[in-house]
Amino acid sequence: MTTENLQNTYNYDVVRKFAIMTIVWGIVGMLVGVIIAAQLAWPMLNFDTPWFTFGRLRPLHTNAVVFAFGGSALMATSLFVVQRTCHVRIFSDKLANFVFWGWQTVIVLAAITLPLGITSTKEYAELEWPIDILITVVWVSYAIVFFGTIVKRKIKHIYVANWFFGAFIIAVAILHIFNNLEYPISFTKSYSIYAGVQDAMIQWWYGHNAVGFFLTAGFLGIMYYFIPKQAEKPVYSYRLSVVHFWALSFTYIWAGPHHLHYTALPDWAQSVGMVFSLILLAPSWGGMINGMMTLSGAWHKLRTDPILKFLVVSVSFYGMSTFEGPMMAIKTVNALSHYTDWTIGHVHSGALGWVGMISIGAMYYMIPRLFGREIFSVRLIEWHFWMATLGIVLYITAMWVSGITQGLMWRAVHEDGTLVYSFVETVQAMHPYYIIRFLGGLVYLAGMIVMAYNLIRTVAGAKPIVSAIPQPASST
Ligand code: HEM
Ligand code: HEM
Repeated sequence: MTTENLQNTYNYDVVRKFAIMTIVWGIVGMLVGVIIAAQLAWPMLNFDTPWFTFGRLRPLHTNAVVFAFGGSALMATSLFVVQRTCHVRIFSDKLANFVFWGWQTVIVLAAITLPLGITSTKEYAELEWPIDILITVVWVSYAIVFFGTIVKRKIKHIYVANWFFGAFIIAVAILHIFNNLEYPISFTKSYSIYAGVQDAMIQWWYGHNAVGFFLTAGFLGIMYYFIPKQAEKPVYSYRLSVVHFWALSFTYIWAGPHHLHYTALPDWAQSVGMVFSLILLAPSWGGMINGMMTLSGAWHKLRTDPILKFLVVSVSFYGMSTFEGPMMAIKTVNALSHYTDWTIGHVHSGALGWVGMISIGAMYYMIPRLFGREIFSVRLIEWHFWMATLGIVLYITAMWVSGITQGLMWRAVHEDGTLVYSFVETVQAMHPYYIIRFLGGLVYLAGMIVMAYNLIRTVAGAKPIVSAIPQPASST
């Protein structure tokens, strides 16, 4: 089948648009990350300008990388995968188009309101109520497009990647609606309907499951489609993938209280959070092993295929952060790690390593196929891979050292119980690590710019590919 026929069979237009915006928002979000990293190292870069201060730009960074970059990557891949694995065109072209423009509007509104200081103050749910309502409408439309496509599928079996995408879509809808129940007092200000410790518990039930279903389940959907495709091998164990799905979905929901250790939350609830976090290691590693072992018999491809390198190294970062997370959830470990840069190191081994690398790998797989063009330069992908890896290593090792130093300095006491270090001494001790983190972020961002250049040249290039396009009749 030719490229043209495939374009008619499937709606690639919406996938293309989301794929392009993944790269655009990736660069924007990471640029803001680099700016706030620089502000932590050199505070004068706040320029005494309210909208440019760290406090305003930090939520802009998290919203841009998680919801704009990660969200666009998830929407691009899920809408690609659901069509290809169900062998049908998307449920409704018009609604899919609305999802695209609606989601971009949400992002632009976030980029305007957050620097202005308009915020509901809940982490990862800072956007005010009118934007929350728009998110709900867009998300429900996305659910209709995705599940509508599943309903009209031509293949009886629902491929496992779609299970993960489906869980991500349903869970995020529930989390978003319940965490954002609020009383509006004006067009730009609202207050949560929950109070005190209940508010905190709902917030971290949301926050942790945003990690579990947005930053994990959705990206596992990507793993289950793109690793087998790029490695040209079937999933290592289909049975394990089903166990992985149910065990992960069940366990994640209970682990939120590990964000509230040693707070006013009842002690038993903290312990439940800790125990479920430890249990979570098992399904997480089951999934990680399933992804890795899909390469059985194809390991040699890693030598020559930088796209596969991105995908596989991302899974190893997934394994690393899901080992580290349960350890940090142990109350005695959390007593040291909480409030320190160790958490930031953990976040970015998941974010830059797992989420970032798997999205990058999926974009390198999809974009040439979506535009029917041969990749411009495999060598540049190889360069990007090493830049991303170096960036992550600099970022997370700096944060581990700084985090543990910070934690130990805070808890150091003289025999008479007085503190050994003043707070400002701990801040001074962080300075070199903040510079290293800034450099790591800069290298990672530079890699993204190399990617953008490579893909622009790919799309503008004249070398069509036909043979490499997966055919509907034979593909999963
Ligand atoms: C060039 C790459 C990046 C740089 C330089 C960067 C830098 C930063 C900095 C400086 C902070 C604030 C840390 C603090 O408050 O002490 C931060 C927070 C955060 N970043 Fe990034 N970041 C990058 C990429 C990403 C990506 C790709 C994601 C997600 C996919 C991400 C997710 C987050 C999250 C969730 C937080 C909040 C963490 C917390 O509250 O514990 N970042 N980032
Ligand atoms: C088995 C899996 C995981 C467990 C049990 C886990 C556990 C934890 C723990 C205990 C914290 C520190 C809470 C605190 O002291 O405040 C944390 C923070 C965090 N983790 Fe994980 N983690 C896991 C996987 C991941 C992955 C794969 C990602 C990213 C893709 C991630 C993203 C985050 C973020 C963004 C935070 C910071 C939340 C905040 O305070 O703003 N986690 N996690």
